[in-house]
Amino acid sequence: VRVIKAALLGAGTVGSGVYDILQWQKDEMPKKLGAVVELKKILVRNTKKPREGMDSSLFTDNWKEILDDPEIEIVIEVMGGIEPAKTYITEALHAGKHVVTANKDLLAEHGKEVLDAAEEHGCDLMFEAAVAGGIPIIRPLKQCLAANHLTEVMGIVNGTTNYILTKMTKDHMEFADALALATELGYAEADPTADVEGYDAARKVAIMASIAFNSRVTFSDVYTQGITKITAADIAYATEMGMVIKLLGVARNTDTGIEAGVYPMLIPADHPLAGVNDSFNAVFVHGDAVDDAMFQGRGAGKLPTGSAVAGDIFEVARDIVAGSTGRINCTCYKNLRIKPVDEVQNR
Ligand code: NAP
Ligand code: HSE
Repeated sequence: VRVIKAALLGAGTVGSGVYDILQWQKDEMPKKLGAVVELKKILVRNTKKPREGMDSSLFTDNWKEILDDPEIEIVIEVMGGIEPAKTYITEALHAGKHVVTANKDLLAEHGKEVLDAAEEHGCDLMFEAAVAGGIPIIRPLKQCLAANHLTEVMGIVNGTTNYILTKMTKDHMEFADALALATELGYAEADPTADVEGYDAARKVAIMASIAFNSRVTFSDVYTQGITKITAADIAYATEMGMVIKLLGVARNTDTGIEAGVYPMLIPADHPLAGVNDSFNAVFVHGDAVDDAMFQGRGAGKLPTGSAVAGDIFEVARDIVAGSTGRINCTCYKNLRIKPVDEVQNR
């Protein structure tokens, strides 16, 4: 059976999940893919850090060992941050390696550059895990719903803030305690400011809007308000009124342009989104043919996110076996008017 060598960049929450899933799936891969994907190297900052259950002989802190190894066909970037991730991904694509990434920070700001590099070199570039963790949403938007004129994509797209709001509502927990728990559970970003200020959700909205509306929406196009100003008193008032507070990400394709925003909203307790709790996310999509569709599941964490990353790795492996690589998930043309953030804010 064909063996496809891959390198993992990052062995934190997501990287360790990907590692475990690739081990668990080893025997099933030949049937599913006609090949086995094997990790040859794992790039980390600290090669001495003990990492339970992982083969320490694979660790390196030298990117060149991966870049210059012609045997490595797939690079899986789960380090996070813009740099050096952007350089490594670009260099990998230039070297003809396929890339799977969970990096919404990079895609929401520099998506076009890396997508262009993938296209130029005929490489796959997959990023299902960049939005809503384990929930399939990128591929449904790009493929299954592609025959629709999509006008709305909205929902709960940050697990950390949904976890915090759930704990504040149901257990009357303090904001800081709930955030500490979300961090411990592996939901939060390396700098959780991105979660609580809504930046992480805004990045996901930018990525979804770009794909859904066949346009190029970036992070700075998204009006963003987080949950740091929400107090226990706000939660109590909401409960008294039969409502819940949720941080929503909303993107609409209107006659006057695309509007994109992230903000906390009061929603009725019997609304389907009100029951989406803890680290779960949910995304509603409206299209002219499909009508309404909803996608729901775990939006963060080691295994749910690892599931999305590993699914992408399998897709790339299938393409390699079939000789049909060169698939990217978005074209990112700047063809539609994007409403300025103050217009969205004052709406
Ligand atoms: P994490 O736990 O902080 O892990 C990051 C890993 O990357 C660590 O192993 C770290 O090495 C390594 N790393 C960071 N900078 C590096 C560098 N310059 N050179 C070499 N290695 C480096 O992060 P994570 O939660 O797994 O998130 C990873 C990515 O997935 C981010 O883009 C994040 O936004 C995205 N994501 C996360 C989740 C989630 O639920 N956590 C969900 C969806 C997407 P050391 O261990 O040596 O420090
Ligand atoms: N920090 C992110 C969240 C991880 O809480 O949703 C998943 O993208």
